[in-house]
Amino acid sequence: MDATITLNDGARMPRLGLGVFLVSDVAVCEASVRSALRGGYRLVDTAAFYRNERAVGRGIRGSGVPREEIFVTTKLWPSDYGLDRARAAIGASVERLDCGPIDLLLLHQPVGDVIGAWKAMEEAVDAGTVRSIGVSNFTADDLDRLLAVARIRPVVDQIELHPYWQQPGLLPVLARHDIVAEAWYPLGHGSRELLAEPAIVAAATVHGKSPAQVVLRWHLQRGFVAIPKSTDPAHIAANFDIGDFALSADEMAAVDALGRARPMQRIPRWVMSLARFARPRPRP
Ligand SMILES: NC(=O)c1ccc[n+]([C@@H]2O[C@H](COP(=O)([O-])OP(=O)(O)OC[C@H]3O[C@@H](n4cnc5c(N)ncnc54)[C@H](OP(=O)(O)O)[C@@H]3O)[C@@H](O)[C@H]2O)c1
Repeated sequence: MDATITLNDGARMPRLGLGVFLVSDVAVCEASVRSALRGGYRLVDTAAFYRNERAVGRGIRGSGVPREEIFVTTKLWPSDYGLDRARAAIGASVERLDCGPIDLLLLHQPVGDVIGAWKAMEEAVDAGTVRSIGVSNFTADDLDRLLAVARIRPVVDQIELHPYWQQPGLLPVLARHDIVAEAWYPLGHGSRELLAEPAIVAAATVHGKSPAQVVLRWHLQRGFVAIPKSTDPAHIAANFDIGDFALSADEMAAVDALGRARPMQRIPRWVMSLARFARPRPRP
């Protein structure tokens, strides 16, 4: 399997990366990014909201891996939406990451002045400060509203996606628009229940792999991009070591059959809309 996927704007994005949500200790964040990149990862997923963009940038610069081989994603938070605020916020993320153009910039949530922010993101693509743009947590209706006015189509929708929640309604919509599904919570946020599922443990035993490796392999074989978070060097290495086996059609079907009717994380829309008022304050 190719290590990258081609986005609808022609850019190539690694299929597997490191997520750094909730990695609040900046030294740990920097070390995790460095160790992942030295171990072969080429995609790092952060956000202004995670307050660790500076640490991610230091990890990238300290890794010794040429910058042009690395794909860095960050996200705008709703308090920075609207044309003028988003222009300033994009500049601030570029400054904090301090590693040249952002490879992929996402709208973190579908609330607030999404359209104004998208225009600023399109401008940033034109100016070359951002290479590709996409969205996160967008439903089919959110996408329709954006696609009606967007000059540049989103390349990805980063969404909750794992064997327990397979987004049955949204995936066909993304496929129709050639938008890649990128999985957050790829390991179900480290769910012990998920990693102990008999179908997953059985496949792990057959292939001599861990349950987490089986779940990540399932993501890749379903065509998703996955960004597991870890600060444990052994987990970081293991999560990337999934290129030497393949799940059979029966094993894939057994994991597919774990799908449930609801996501794990359910934040009501009105609560999420309060994000417009909570501006993240970056750490050093
Ligand atoms: N766009 C959004 O709204 C949004 C929302 C949530 C997340 N995200 C992104 O998605 C990324 C991943 O999501 P997530 O961090 O919430 O969940 P996750 O990657 O599904 O799970 C992370 C948890 O799994 C554990 N883990 C990692 N590798 C493991 C392994 N090999 N064996 C056993 N446990 C393992 C980690 O602990 P250790 O650190 O101890 O390994 C951590 O507790 C985030 O970091 C972020 O970049 C985006």
